[in-house]
Amino acid sequence: MRVSFIVNGASETADDVWEGESLLYVLRERMGLPGSKNACEQGECGSCTVYLDGTPVCACLVAAGQAEGRQVRTVEGLAEGDRLAPIQEAFVEAGAVQCGFCTPGLLVQAHDLIERRPDPSDAEIREALAGNLCRCTGYEKILDAVRLAARRKAAI
Ligand code: FES
Ligand code: FES
Repeated sequence: MRVSFIVNGASETADDVWEGESLLYVLRERMGLPGSKNACEQGECGSCTVYLDGTPVCACLVAAGQAEGRQVRTVEGLAEGDRLAPIQEAFVEAGAVQCGFCTPGLLVQAHDLIERRPDPSDAEIREALAGNLCRCTGYEKILDAVRLAARRKAAI
């Protein structure tokens, strides 16, 4: 089947998509967007997190056909042109990236948190990121990065 949806503001189409093919597979393998990572493919790790109509979802659990006509935003769409999004800058500055495999999903999830809760508590940060696993276990630096981005947003 053919699926068409908006990805990071641009209309994209993929042909010969199998009915059970995931949104993650279509983004990575057919649309040239490998930022969202494929780890568990079971909704357990959050490394594939993307926005679907403004809500973070595990792209491995969404059939590509379910995205038909909808808005998808991936980690590649967080930056504004050449300028990193504030949450991306904060991850770099706080040293929150180790191997980087979990980073795209964490960035999307943290971006959503800060949009919804400009001044989140530590408990709110932990809860928001609870579904995103970091195999390198660098959680403290990740928390530092989210706190830094939130502080900067609150100061604007
Ligand atoms: S790859 Fe989707 S949640 Fe792990
Ligand atoms: S930085 Fe390696 S999995 Fe998180």
